[in-house]
Amino acid sequence: MNNVRVLNLKNISDEKGNLTPIEATRDIPFEIKRVYYLYNVPQNQTRGYHAHKELQQLLVCINGSVEILCEDENGEKQTYLLDRADKGLFVGSMVWHEMMNFSKDCVLVVFASEYYNEIDYIRNYDDFLQLSNIKRQGSMYA
Ligand code: TYD
Repeated sequence: MNNVRVLNLKNISDEKGNLTPIEATRDIPFEIKRVYYLYNVPQNQTRGYHAHKELQQLLVCINGSVEILCEDENGEKQTYLLDRADKGLFVGSMVWHEMMNFSKDCVLVVFASEYYNEIDYIRNYDDFLQLSNIKRQGSMYA
């Protein structure tokens, strides 16, 4: 998969419980400008259905579980199960992603490299395929 990686985060575990730290540019490959979280997602609700032109994100399910289907600009697809607070999914630019099977208690925290910017979204799947094609051809002839 291009631009998607599972990151095993530190888990400092002792008799007091667990602690997972995330340091920008050290534990994850970007500076963090924004954090948001998804929670109370109704049963069978899916979300996402977009890619980003530039944005890089780290998704961490800190409670419950959720599945993330990713498709990169080469058309490769993979589904990732996020079910641990010490497992992150890095999703870089040009990755179409769909979120599904949210457990009732799911809390999905997302660390993002940029402020919210609707202009950076690719919300139409055909636009994503077309842009992916252009990017692929660009890199072939570069
Ligand atoms: P959206 O990214 O479409 O959610 P999802 O892909 O999870 O279904 O965002 C939903 C709404 O929230 C949309 O109106 C934009 C708004 N929003 C913000 O205002 N700030 C943010 O940081 C994010 C991620 C979304």
